[in-house]
Amino acid sequence: MFTNSNWKKQILVIIIFMNLFCFQLVGQETEVDNDHFYFVQIADTHIGKGTNLEITQALVKQINNLPMKLQFVIHTGDITQNGMSDTVSVFNAIDAMNKLEAPLFYIPGNHDIFQEHVEEEINIFQEYFGDLIFVKEFEEVSFIGLYSDPLAYSFSVENYDPFLELEKALKTTNGKPVIVFHHIPSVESFYNNTMHDGWENENRDRWEKTLNSYNVIAILAGHFHSDELHWIGEIPLYVSASVTNRFGRQPSFRIYEYKNGKLSYRTQYETK
Ligand SMILES: [Fe+2]
Repeated sequence: MFTNSNWKKQILVIIIFMNLFCFQLVGQETEVDNDHFYFVQIADTHIGKGTNLEITQALVKQINNLPMKLQFVIHTGDITQNGMSDTVSVFNAIDAMNKLEAPLFYIPGNHDIFQEHVEEEINIFQEYFGDLIFVKEFEEVSFIGLYSDPLAYSFSVENYDPFLELEKALKTTNGKPVIVFHHIPSVESFYNNTMHDGWENENRDRWEKTLNSYNVIAILAGHFHSDELHWIGEIPLYVSASVTNRFGRQPSFRIYEYKNGKLSYRTQYETK
């Protein structure tokens, strides 16, 4: 038979037990969250040509409706078709992309900054879209996005040395896993049934050596408008297909999942 004080003792024991159980669950969830998250890559929207604005608006809605929480969305360049000097397209792009609910980052592509207007278009990009290089940290991973076109096309930009900036950024990551975003892949491209030269060998070799000297686990790029996988030394280079339907492509974006130190992705096509 239970006395009044026995009841109280029993209830106290149950409460302590339940609290311990809850703490354990919370602890487990935090541990998983630190090593498991999602982000999205958008590549080559080329706003200012054809129906690319409407396609971008539709994919933005699709991204907002994804069932998983996104840490961020990265646009890996060629936001516009005719460059930052095309003010109407710049504002259309900002308006469409700002409807994304997740934090958004950009790097510029060759259709955003043309060599003929390099200084003016860099200034416009920096004013509306961000820096030419950034480092962001999410959970246990460092992300570096950079404007690499000067390496791809071997031209120089005043006050911006991509290798110097990249090295500086990599040094800040302190051995953490790093994922690098840029626009033009450092490999040959293949179209019209022919291989086409990519970056000059000197830049390509230095790029590979630099990235392989740090804990870079993946490189993400766009520009080719096709799904491709290459290896830059020991590092996988994931090339994403495009948002634009140019060259008969089906508009798409990519969902990346980082889990247990590994990166995987799914390509998501436009749903009508
Ligand atoms: Fe491009």
